[in-house]
Amino acid sequence: MDRIVVHTEPPRSLLRFLTCGSVDDGKSTLIGRLLYDSRLIMEDTLNSLAKDSRKHGTVGEDIDLALLVDGLEAERQQGITIDVAYRFFGTPKRNFIVADTPGHEQYTRNMATGASNCELAIILADARKGVLTQTRRHTYICSLLGIRHVVLAVNKIDLVDFSEQTFDRIVGDWLTFASSLGFQTMVPIPLSARFGDNATQRSGNTPWYLGPTLIDHLEKVDVEGDTAAKPFRFPVQWVNRPHQDFRGFSGTVASGRVTLGDAVVVAASGRQSRVVRILGPDGDISGAAAGEAVTICLADEIDIARGDMLVPPTARPQVADQFAGHLLWMDEEAMLPGRQYMMRIGNLWTTASVTSIRHRVNVNTLEHQAARRLELNEIGVCNIEVKKPVPLDPYAENRTTGAFILVDRFSNRTAGAGMVDFVLRRATNIHHEDYPVDKLARATLDHQKPLVLWFTGLSGSGKSTIAKLIEQRLHRRGRHTYTLDGDNLRQGLNRDLGFTDADRVENIRRVGEVAKLFTDAGLIVLCSFISPFQAERQMVRDMFEPGEFVEIFVDTPIDECIRRDRKGLYAKARSGVIQNFTGITSPYEPPEQPDFHLRTAGTTAEELAEVVLRGVLPLIEG
Ligand code: ADX
Repeated sequence: MDRIVVHTEPPRSLLRFLTCGSVDDGKSTLIGRLLYDSRLIMEDTLNSLAKDSRKHGTVGEDIDLALLVDGLEAERQQGITIDVAYRFFGTPKRNFIVADTPGHEQYTRNMATGASNCELAIILADARKGVLTQTRRHTYICSLLGIRHVVLAVNKIDLVDFSEQTFDRIVGDWLTFASSLGFQTMVPIPLSARFGDNATQRSGNTPWYLGPTLIDHLEKVDVEGDTAAKPFRFPVQWVNRPHQDFRGFSGTVASGRVTLGDAVVVAASGRQSRVVRILGPDGDISGAAAGEAVTICLADEIDIARGDMLVPPTARPQVADQFAGHLLWMDEEAMLPGRQYMMRIGNLWTTASVTSIRHRVNVNTLEHQAARRLELNEIGVCNIEVKKPVPLDPYAENRTTGAFILVDRFSNRTAGAGMVDFVLRRATNIHHEDYPVDKLARATLDHQKPLVLWFTGLSGSGKSTIAKLIEQRLHRRGRHTYTLDGDNLRQGLNRDLGFTDADRVENIRRVGEVAKLFTDAGLIVLCSFISPFQAERQMVRDMFEPGEFVEIFVDTPIDECIRRDRKGLYAKARSGVIQNFTGITSPYEPPEQPDFHLRTAGTTAEELAEVVLRGVLPLIEG
């Protein structure tokens, strides 16, 4: 991104690698060293660099190599958002692309982005500090992301007097941890990025080190096997139909190759056809391979939309709505099982949720731990459910079609990065069974339109009081109703749930399902739950037809709830007798646009019940 060096020589092989570590480990200096030593830095850049480093005065008269790289930081601060910067350089033997990920706190996110198409990772460790949690984390994430070649760059070896013992100890620690992670090559190198020892020149200071220099290794490491032919996968990015006579499917070949005349199927529907045209950037071509952006035309007019995947009939991906996978959580807000997220896999967007966390991985010990949520930077093995079946491959087989991201529905942040492990064959072959007496038939008999009145608010805000008044009035008018109440359901159906965030998510999920059954039965359902999270209130709303779900925010200031404290729970919460109490030690997210916003201060429950009733009667009577 910052400079591209155009080579005129014949194409050489290309290695994409990633550097993991923080600025303190000397990451920028190392990248700078590689760029500098490979003499591909333009003369003028060098001149200005010399000036800059004199100005900064960090390394005396030497050029500060880190400045080469950290210049990008300025671009970032100017609002050019790049999570990963790609740098290009070359030697007579090979070309390189370095994915440089900023080593901030959010490193997991950046690593996941940067590593996705790298074949090798350089993991930096400071020789003075040895193998840290971060070193282990980076090593583990690299293995998860399918990187099969790693280098442990034991940097600043000059600062430990080029000590062989220190190096051996660090390498020993690292190998103990990393040996079981399935890497094909693991190469530790003692380095000084700042002075160049063993980076590109063999160092006289480490006569005991007999291995390759970093650049030697990067030039020679054999990663060809990694790119060996995989089955053809073509996620359709868009349907290109400029006029009646042309219909092509555009996208990038994710893996394998396609040739004119090949038979293909649409992964999800199984519809089959044949490739009759392939268009590259310069017109017709006879075939295309992984990484090429093309438009493919088929012999038959079959139904294909954005997000579909073209694959060979003989080597299809699995199509599933449940799978197990590794999930790296990258959001401040914890991942809660049952919460819905937007999922992107290939070019397909769908809704997904984690149905259970099989275990969390302790990145220091690789131990499996029980967990009910995943916090920022945690890694878990999860069962995941998607709304509609999607084509997918295990990540171990295909790093493109086996990778997915989860996006927070409200903030739109990428919250998790995942890798498919295997498809789960749970509850498959289940189809909706239609019954002749349906919702409409039942509702018609009752002369009412089913509706959900969803009351949300703090404990003691008056939800149940208002719901009771409304239900009585509806009942008097001959309306068939049912009320679902938090305290009541928690004594039966939801007896197993407590008040952690995860349990509240599950509580509301179940209530939503029950409310759905009751509306299907033709009833007007009143639901009275704190339901503190907007994500789950939205999830329940999405389960109903437009206009069928009415959100009523019972807005009573917390001080007033505390003053009333009808059940004595606030007092207990404040004295620490009960934990996770909404408003005291657990959050409440007020609705942003409720259908009714009932401010209870200075008015009576009867008046508020009337307001809601007047509003909803026309909906019920249709
Ligand atoms: S929700 O958050 O999952 O929607 P729900 O409405 O089912 O909660 O249950 C809330 C009721 O449980 C409260 O009205 C209160 O009587 C009782 N309760 C007991 N402990 C707690 C707690 N820690 N937080 C909130 N409510 C609690």
